[in-house]
Amino acid sequence: MSIGIFYGSTGGNTESIAEDIVSALGVEADIHDIADVGAERLNDYSHLIIGSSTWGDGELQDDWDDAFSAYEKLDFSGKTVAFFGLGDQEGYGEYFLNAMGTLYEAAVKKGANVVGDGWSTEGYDYEDSEAVNEKGFVGLALDEDNQDDLTEERIQKWIEIIKPHFS
Ligand SMILES: Cc1cc2nc3c(=O)[nH]c(=O)nc-3n(C[C@H](O)[C@H](O)[C@H](O)COP(=O)(O)O)c2cc1C
Repeated sequence: MSIGIFYGSTGGNTESIAEDIVSALGVEADIHDIADVGAERLNDYSHLIIGSSTWGDGELQDDWDDAFSAYEKLDFSGKTVAFFGLGDQEGYGEYFLNAMGTLYEAAVKKGANVVGDGWSTEGYDYEDSEAVNEKGFVGLALDEDNQDDLTEERIQKWIEIIKPHFS
């Protein structure tokens, strides 16, 4: 098993969460800022954790946006993939965590075996999100702008769910 964590982060929040996730997971994993590596680097790993903040009105974080045309062409079949997203449910409630939905959809289309989805929408207050389907959020939903006091607990709970797939 090889584990790669790929994140895009403009102000450093998603980067810091990526580091927290690796510590909480407690296994050997490579962390990559997507700004520094091409999307093709995802091919090197059987297991992936992918994180993005959302910018603009529901857009991918800039570095993911640059990498996206290559990302959506990757073959995810046989790969175990988990997603996390950061957003602001009060300031951008109509587009909460859309970037996580965008990255999830593209990977599922190309055969990804997604774990850590079906994350409950309870405890969040937003109007709309492309990161939600009939099961719940498609990955770990975090809001450092309004609910940073809940982040640590959410990470711990989510890690318990994905851990069996990453060890
Ligand atoms: C100009 C701007 C636009 C944003 N747009 C959205 C958005 O559409 N949806 C959302 O959920 N969060 C949005 N956010 C909130 C960021 O995703 C959030 O602050 C996040 O923690 C930033 O993480 P980063 O520092 O890793 O980039 C926006 C923030 C700013 C400043």
